Amino acid sequence: MNNATNNPAAHDFNNAQKLGVVIVGHVDHGKSTLIGRLLHDTGSFMDGKLEELKAVCERRNVPFEWSFLLDAFQAERDQAITIDTTQIWFKTSKRNCVIIDAPGHREFLKNMISGAAFADAAILVVDAKEGVREQTKRHAYLLHLLGLQQIVVTINKMDMVDYSEARFNEVAAEITGYLKGINVTPHSIIPMAARNGENIAAHAPAMPWYSGLTLLETLDVFEPIAAPVERPLRFPVQDVYRWDETRIIAGRIEAGVLRKGDALTFSPSNRQAKVVSIEKWNSATEILSAEAGESIGITLDQPIFVARGDIASHVQRAPMLASEFRANIFWLGKKPLQVGNVYKIKLATYEATVTVQAIDRVINTDDLSRTQKNSVEINEMAEVTFRSREVLALDPYQDNLKLGRIVLVENHDVVGGGIIGSDGVIDQRNVLHRHAENLYTVDHLLTAGARTVRNGHKGLVIWLTGLSGAGKSTLAMRVEHALFSKGMQTYVLDGDNVRRGLCKDLGFSPEARAENIRRVGELAALMADAGLVTITAFISPYIADRQKAREAAGENFHEIYVKADLATCEKRDPKGLYKKARSGELKEFTGVSSPYEAPLQPDLTVDTAAQGIDACVEEIVNYILAATKAASGNVVSMQSRTK
Ligand code: ADX
Repeated sequence: MNNATNNPAAHDFNNAQKLGVVIVGHVDHGKSTLIGRLLHDTGSFMDGKLEELKAVCERRNVPFEWSFLLDAFQAERDQAITIDTTQIWFKTSKRNCVIIDAPGHREFLKNMISGAAFADAAILVVDAKEGVREQTKRHAYLLHLLGLQQIVVTINKMDMVDYSEARFNEVAAEITGYLKGINVTPHSIIPMAARNGENIAAHAPAMPWYSGLTLLETLDVFEPIAAPVERPLRFPVQDVYRWDETRIIAGRIEAGVLRKGDALTFSPSNRQAKVVSIEKWNSATEILSAEAGESIGITLDQPIFVARGDIASHVQRAPMLASEFRANIFWLGKKPLQVGNVYKIKLATYEATVTVQAIDRVINTDDLSRTQKNSVEINEMAEVTFRSREVLALDPYQDNLKLGRIVLVENHDVVGGGIIGSDGVIDQRNVLHRHAENLYTVDHLLTAGARTVRNGHKGLVIWLTGLSGAGKSTLAMRVEHALFSKGMQTYVLDGDNVRRGLCKDLGFSPEARAENIRRVGELAALMADAGLVTITAFISPYIADRQKAREAAGENFHEIYVKADLATCEKRDPKGLYKKARSGELKEFTGVSSPYEAPLQPDLTVDTAAQGIDACVEEIVNYILAATKAASGNVVSMQSRTK
């Protein structure tokens, strides 16, 4: 940005008091003209700029347009290397305002949904002649989605409709009707001719019938949104620095107040420590507290593991912990969003990987109709349920405007964004961190080694995962038979069988599946500890759940991916379930209406679509024998040592 042209410092800039303004509306309804005129009417351009541009226009014999001012400004801006490339400053009689803008519709929307640009107020521009159009509605919906309360509508280009009050009323009624449907009440609706500066800084004699506020007066009624100091403390960790022996945890407080001596919980790990000191750049005196909006560093009394992305809060009012949440999103991706797709999300300073669990609703911003569809196309809004591989610390948007926002990323490109809803989040904090009270580990008198010696092999968990119809059960039973024939201790835990007893109470929702796999993972670990080669045959569609099963069994866990593509499984359809799922009779069916997350690094993959069943059985048996041989090798040396 050329400082002489548009410089906040030149306006006696006070950051805390600035009003962030976003100008939205349909293309060609006059946004750029309005910006050019706003800058001019508030004296925000360097002297002579206007005259210079007018002279250029005259020379080239083109009529002068106010938007040229913005273009000229943007051209300068594009050449300058500065972090403020999307901010344009002007000053009203009351305070500094910053227009949040971006060259290009897509870039602009990306800024809006990512929160890169944080707006306090919005100006919605509607062309008096054309009336409400597609993007008018889309942008209005976005304002509603982001919960922006301070909105002024300007009916622009009144000069093109002879300053007709009747036409103004018509368009005003049209936009009010739409806004009502999305529960938005604009502060005022102003007839305007941006090109002539009418009703921007001064009232327009051409529209004596309008006695309301001018645009600048309206902006002065709006207030910058105050930092949420009253809310529960949220301090997302941005970085961890080492300074000699000291470790400083740095970030920006997004809500609440942090005091020296406070006991903090870091989520999602739930580790706790006390604040020893609050550090600020160049502060000579000791800092006893800091609040929302401040960037600080803290030191802790415990050397607990803390990393970028963690969220510090007070112990009592910590964020929710969830691996499933629902979000209202705006989709910008060229490729549609579909169930089962995997994206990166940015959540405050954290990056996570999520799978689309369900598309609950797609909202047409034009007529506000809601439909059930399997994919979300570019520029559509939708309610989507996401599932993350790990547990996330999150707040609904209504509780925290900064932390309740997600940005969706695919191949390093922002493809969408939105806000986290308060329903659909199942808080797992109590379940995950329930303390095992009054429990003591009781030691066996036998060692695992002793059991291994008796059985001639180690106990293992052989975890088969794959789609329904991939062949897990068939393979498991054949492998069990083969191992038994070799004199080994072995048993199969099969999904359909276990779900008749131990897991009789569980269905197929993501939570129910997680619990199913948790129980089976723990049981399989006990059986392996007892010395059995335990083969499990469960779809176990989620990476996170399988990871927990692996943690339960430790080094004895071996994951085998029973691979077969969906089309093959569907063709086999041994239980007729795919057919039922396709007809809608069976809900949440893996591969059709519920996702499957294939293992990223399985210990072994058998492809039942490419290989015959005998070959797969042989491969698995050989794998198990090798795994137990390594173990029995140890046993022999152990025996010889004891002798
Ligand atoms: S898991 O997802 O929780 O691991 P599990 O392997 O126990 O599933 O059970 C899968 C079996 O349940 C399938 O083989 C099928 O017979 C039956 N089933 C019934 N409804 C569903 C469903 N909605 N999705 C998947 N399997 C289902």
